[in-house]
Amino acid sequence: MTRTPVNVTVTGAAGQIGYALLFRIASGHLLGPDVPVNLRLLEITPALKAAEGTAMELDDCAFPLLRGIEITDDANVAFDGANVALLVGARPRTKGMERGDLLSANGGIFKPQGKAINDNAADDIKVLVVGNPANTNALIAQASAPDVPAERFTAMTRLDHNRAISQLAKKTGAAVSDIKRLTIWGNHSATQYPDIFHAEIAGKNAAEVVADEQWLADAFIPTVAKRGAAIIEARGASSAASAANAAIDHVHTWVNGTAEGDWTSMGIPSDGSYGVPEGLISSFPVTVKDGKYSIVQDLDINEFSRKRIDASVKELTEERDAVRELGLI
Ligand code: NAD
Ligand code: LMR
Repeated sequence: MTRTPVNVTVTGAAGQIGYALLFRIASGHLLGPDVPVNLRLLEITPALKAAEGTAMELDDCAFPLLRGIEITDDANVAFDGANVALLVGARPRTKGMERGDLLSANGGIFKPQGKAINDNAADDIKVLVVGNPANTNALIAQASAPDVPAERFTAMTRLDHNRAISQLAKKTGAAVSDIKRLTIWGNHSATQYPDIFHAEIAGKNAAEVVADEQWLADAFIPTVAKRGAAIIEARGASSAASAANAAIDHVHTWVNGTAEGDWTSMGIPSDGSYGVPEGLISSFPVTVKDGKYSIVQDLDINEFSRKRIDASVKELTEERDAVRELGLI
């Protein structure tokens, strides 16, 4: 049976994450080995030529699943009929920039992109925001897309989730594949909370296996939460291949579901669960079935976790209030 190609829009396509992402989308890792794709690459005008270079390389791979590539600096064209949108392009913080300036500059990107998604995307559109500050950029885009169901706007915390699994595997000597039910709560920022109290290592409770609260507080949590900064320090540029990999994981799971007995972490609009104010785009433990995610309910949140979740949610609330004041939502 010939399947209809899925339209995948990638913004910031000429950037470093774009370069690590596009080839994997085109080779079937995003949606599956039997799903053809059309790529739509959105860039700012000065970067169109570089995007064309990447498109030439994509052509040169002769990927059987890649049915077409369109490159544009017009968001209405890029999101026309989009089924999946990966919003990667964002305004990085530069020297002397205050947080308000950063939020305002990103508002200038995510507000019009949200409107273009609202006006042009397919009815089944799924949006993943990668560009930082990812949770709040997702909120801005969502607010400009009133006709799209709010839950279709998500922010990426899968990189944090993968980082946490890897650190836990290193500490315990377990295989990565033995670690399940890890959770990232809150913001994709240094306040995020990687929670192992409900995680399992080969079926055993991870916190009990580790049995070292000091390691948790002083090593594991800060290592995961500050990993982005450590990569920037080491590489002289922010994470790219691992971020692209996490974006692939996020969408693949959203489309194809979580494994039985496991869950993942996604930044999604809160329904008020776990005391997170409704509407904030915050990371939660989620299971996914038939293309729909649900927050894992009724987890016992101990005091250690509660204060860390609350701190990250407080930061998200402040970011939301700041963009509200700027008239972006
Ligand atoms: P980059 O600077 O290499 O590329 C960004 C690209 O976006 C550039 O090519 C730029 O021209 C383009 N761009 C800027 N404004 C645009 C617009 N309005 N429309 C379309 N394209 C636009 O950056 P990168 O390393 O690819 O990172 C992209 C973003 O992802 C950054 O904000 C980074 O902080 C973020 N990031 C997030 C995570 C996460 O886990 N959520 C992880 C790593 C990086
Ligand atoms: C990361 O977690 O690697 C990035 O979000 C860091 C950054 O600031 O781009």
